[in-house]
Amino acid sequence: MDSRLRGNDRTGSVPYDREQYKTMTPLRHTSHSEAETEALARALADQLPAGLVILLEGDLGTGKSVLARGIIRGLGITDEYITSPTFTLVNSYPEGRLPIHHFDLYRISHPDELGLIGMEEYLDEANVVLVEWPDKGDDWIPAHHLHIRLEYVQSHPDWRHIEMTAHGSIAHQVLQRFSSHDTTP
Ligand SMILES: Nc1ncnc2c1ncn2[C@@H]1O[C@H](COP(=O)(O)OP(=O)(O)OP(=O)(O)O)[C@@H](O)[C@H]1O
Ligand SMILES: [Mg+2]
Repeated sequence: MDSRLRGNDRTGSVPYDREQYKTMTPLRHTSHSEAETEALARALADQLPAGLVILLEGDLGTGKSVLARGIIRGLGITDEYITSPTFTLVNSYPEGRLPIHHFDLYRISHPDELGLIGMEEYLDEANVVLVEWPDKGDDWIPAHHLHIRLEYVQSHPDWRHIEMTAHGSIAHQVLQRFSSHDTTP
C-alpha cells in the first residue's frame, strides 16, 4: 500500500491543510541530561492522542530509547524495566492511558518483515506507535507523523538538540498543545 494513502487514512475527518504545515516551525529544545530528556518525553506524553505515530531519529546513542521510555512512562506504564525492543522488533504496552507499541527497526533486514508481524494492526488508530530507525521501515511509515530528531552537541557529552516536526494535522495539534503546556526546564 502507498504509505501516503495510509497516512492520510489516519487523519480521520480532519482536513489536510497544506498551508498550515508550512507555517508550523519545528519545536527545538536543548536537553542537558538524560533526566531532562525523559521529563520532556513525559510532558509530551500528556498531549498524545490515539492514532499518533512518532518517529525517533538520530545517531546511535543519542537518546531515542530514553525518549521512548519517557513517553511510555508518561502514559502511565510503571514497569521498572522498559527496554529497547532491538531484538524483538516491538514491545507493546497495552495497559496505559493509551496502548503504545515501541518499534526499533535497526536490525530488520527488509521492510517486508513488518508486514509479516502485522504492522497494519499495530498502526490501528486506537494506538500510539513509536519507531526508532524509521528509515528502515520504508513504505510502512505513515506520511502523517510526529518526527523527533536528536543530535549530539559538540563538547557537551550529555547535551542533545531535540527537534520536533509535525507532518499532518494530528501531529500539528500535538505540537501546538505541547508548546503551550511544556513546563520542562
Ligand atoms: N541529554 C541526554 N538525553 C538522553 N540520553 C542521554 C543524555 N545525556 C546522556 N545520555 C545517555 O545517552 C544514552 C542514550 O541511549 P539510548 O539507548 O537512549 O540511545 P538510542 O538513540 O536509543 O541508541 P540506539 O541507536 O542504539 O538505539 C544513554 O546512555 C543516556 O544515559
Ligand atoms: Mg535505541
